[in-house]
This record gives sequence, structure tokens and C-alpha cells, in this order.
Amino acid sequence: MNTKIYKINRKNIDINTLYLLKKYIKEDLPVAIPTETVYGLAANGLSHKACEKIFEAKNRPADNPLILHISNMDDLFELVEKVDADVLELLEKLWPGPLTVIMKKSEIIPDTVSAGLDTVAIRMPKDEIARKFIEICKTPLAAPSANLSGSPSPTNALDVLEDMEGRIPAIIDGGSCDIGIESTVLDVSQRPFKILRPGFYTYEYLKEFVSDIALDENLKDSTKAPKSPGQKYRHYAPVKPMEVIVEKDYCYIKKRANELSSEGKKVGLLIFEEFKDQFDEYQIFSLGKKCDINQMSQRLFALIRKADHANLDYILCQGVSERKLGLSIMNRLKKSASGKVFIY
Ligand code: TXA
Ligand code: MG
Repeated sequence: MNTKIYKINRKNIDINTLYLLKKYIKEDLPVAIPTETVYGLAANGLSHKACEKIFEAKNRPADNPLILHISNMDDLFELVEKVDADVLELLEKLWPGPLTVIMKKSEIIPDTVSAGLDTVAIRMPKDEIARKFIEICKTPLAAPSANLSGSPSPTNALDVLEDMEGRIPAIIDGGSCDIGIESTVLDVSQRPFKILRPGFYTYEYLKEFVSDIALDENLKDSTKAPKSPGQKYRHYAPVKPMEVIVEKDYCYIKKRANELSSEGKKVGLLIFEEFKDQFDEYQIFSLGKKCDINQMSQRLFALIRKADHANLDYILCQGVSERKLGLSIMNRLKKSASGKVFIY
């Protein structure tokens, strides 16, 4: 299969191209779409066959359920058993946006989407291209991140192409994603609401809207089994070995880089802008300013892929403290580095 990239200008969305690409959705084939978080691999979320194609294209384990993406609030009601008043109030404030909610599913949800669970994940993306495409397709679109299972989520069209070339017919290229890290997955089928996957919307931020909210046990204590199936897999990982070092400045990461280098390894560093000049002898990938964690989140996955392609043997990455968005970033980095995280 030939994979074609269709560039869409966010400021002047070409509806004709979106109508053209609708034919693939009708044929039950997945199409990659931009969202404000990461690129998604979208197919008709009410078609078992289409969802099977997503699992196939990604090599995704069958027990990892998909998120259904909708374009307006009216689409929600037929997908779930019921919408409680406090849930609706929250969604009216935070949708469209990087928030996925888990609710008891209605009978129209194919088992392929929910991976056999009695719940379904739903999100209304803020990205205008994504919302317009969903609207045009007239069906909720199931869309996991558009990477091969296990690799970092793609945040631009070329990173999607790297994983999906020959596997899907089309990629809608809307440029780089603004946020760069996936949505927050919030289980609202129980009280307190539980954050199953920390994302761009942090615990602290959500707490401003609902008082009865908690982090899943597993996010506080990694020995507990995760409630979100996707959280248990090796994920976001480069092929090359990677380590994460959290410290105030750059002393420990420098020490470790020198150590690896003296063993004859070519080391690449994902490092904050402020410390770049201290590492002239190494290949550097800038995470942006340390004080601007949004920049780090926006760049992180693309930089991990870049470092993985470079002529390197080892990747070192600076981490951040596990507060607010830092918790979400470190949740991803722990998986990227297979747990090799050192905090000083
Ligand atoms: O930002 C995002 O959420 C992106 C964009 C494309 O929207 N999508 C995304 O999808 O990250 P995916 O499939 O890579 O991650 C979905 C997560 C997985 O961890 C999955 O296990 C969890 O949501 N999930 C889906 N349905 C669930 C359910 N019924 N109960 C618990 N967790 C669920
Ligand atoms: Mg994913």
C-alpha cells in the first residue's frame, strides 16, 4: 500500500481534501490525523472491521482498548450508558481538549474498541482539522496514537510515516502537535474520578474543576497493577538504550556522559537549553528552557525519535520533578528508559 501525505493548512482548512479522505474511512481503512496532543490512527469507531485494521497497522495487543473521538457533545450520548450531571458539567468546561473520559459503554460499541471491557474511552479533540474530519465522516473515530506499538507517539507527519509507511493509505499533515504528550485519561465511571494516565491536564489542574478526584494507585506506587491496559506495556521507547537523570543542574548527567564515553560509546543528550554549552563534545537535542516545561512536552517524543536515528550508542535525557505536567512527562520517560531513571 502506498502511503500518501496530505498537507492541510490549519488556518484555511481544505474541506475538499477531507471529503476525499472520507472514502478510506468508509472503506474501513485507517487514516492518520493530527490532534493537539499527538497524531492518531483514525478509523470508523463503530465498525469492528475498521478497528481490527487499526490493531493490525499498529501491531497493538488486542487487550488494549481504543479511544473514540467525537466532534460535538451530542455525539457522546449514544456511545455511553448514561451521562451523570457532574460528568457533563466537567466536559462542558474541558471539551474540546486533551481529556479522555472512561464511561460505561452503550451496546453500539464494538468489543474491538473496548477490548472486552464494559467501559469505553471518549475524547473530543481541540484540533480543528481532527474535529472537522470527524464531523465530515459522520461517525466517531477510534484513534490510538499513530505509532507502532511500543515506540514513541508521533507528533508530526514524518514521524507517523516512519512507523506507518505501507500500512495505511493516508496521513493528514497538520504540522507539529502543540502539546506533544497524550491526553489525560480520567475514569468518570466511579467516584472519586480517577486519573488512569496523566497527560497534559494535570491532577492539580483538574482539581480546580472537581474536588472528588484521585490519581490511580499505580501512578503513586508502580508495584500496583495499572487500570488502564495501555499503561502496562513497554512504551514510548527508542531502539537505543536510554537513561533519564533528574537533578538541579547538569553535574550528574555530565558525569554519566563522560563515563559512557570513556567506555567508547557515542552518547547523545536530550538536555535543557540552559546547559547546552557545557556539552560541546556531545550531540545535543534541546528540550527547550528548563522553566518552560510545555516546551519539553511538545518536543520530547520527536527528539527521542531523532536521537534514535542519529549515529549514537546511548541516549541520556534530563528529567523533571514529578509535579504537575512533570508527573505526566516522567510517566512517559520511565517507560522510554525501561525504568532507568536516576534522581539526585
Ligand atoms: O491524546 C491522546 O489520547 C491520543 C490522541 C490520538 O487522541 N490517543 C492516544 O491513544 O493516546 P492510545 O490508544 O495510544 O492510548 C489510549 C489509552 C491507553 O492507555 C488505553 O489502555 C486507555 O487509553 N484506555 C482506552 N480505553 C480504556 C478503558 N475502557 N478503560 C481504561 N483505559 C482505557
Ligand atoms: Mg499510544
